[in-house]
Amino acid sequence: MTGAEAEVNQPTEEQPSAAPSAAAKQQPSDQTEEAEKVWPPLSPEDHRFYNSMSAKMDQIHNYFRASWNELWNACQSGKRPRHKSLNEFLSGGLQFTEHLEAHHNIEERFFFPMLAAKMPEFRPDNGPMVEQHKVIHTGLAELQAYLRDCKRGKADFELRVLKSKMEPWAEVLWQHLDEEVKNLRADNMRKYFTKAEFSRIMI
Ligand SMILES: [Fe+2]
Ligand SMILES: [Fe+2]
Repeated sequence: MTGAEAEVNQPTEEQPSAAPSAAAKQQPSDQTEEAEKVWPPLSPEDHRFYNSMSAKMDQIHNYFRASWNELWNACQSGKRPRHKSLNEFLSGGLQFTEHLEAHHNIEERFFFPMLAAKMPEFRPDNGPMVEQHKVIHTGLAELQAYLRDCKRGKADFELRVLKSKMEPWAEVLWQHLDEEVKNLRADNMRKYFTKAEFSRIMI
């Protein structure tokens, strides 16, 4: 621990010293200052506790990363996976889009509003997590429509076309999958929530 860290008081159970006050909630610059304070290290137990949401989110996101990679690798190699028929490949892709859509809907409806009360990253009006969702959704809808058309025989499946439906939103998707997990990490969550508050919003 550095001298500067040692001088910082440990937050209490009910009142993290940098938890934004009612006034700070209305003043983003104050909130940013609060969040940028130097914090003392968490005990391993508290780190596990405060990091639990990030760990769960990362697990869920790993499923999306793997699903994306299966489609993307096929585009890059020009070959579908040998163990899957075209129909299975299309179903897998469609399932990926449906699950990602449902995941974002649940986040925006139930999860982000609880976080946004204290964390600017999740604000519904201009928070970066919601802004990234919007960009992802546009690309996701196009990919989903194409895969559905292929499954229904309304369009011929081509890996070249699949790639064109994935490429425009690839960067923001991967950025989002990483940044959301990072924002939920213990070092960030402990700045905004007491342990009691965190227990109530835990997923
Ligand atoms: Fe997520
Ligand atoms: Fe998300």
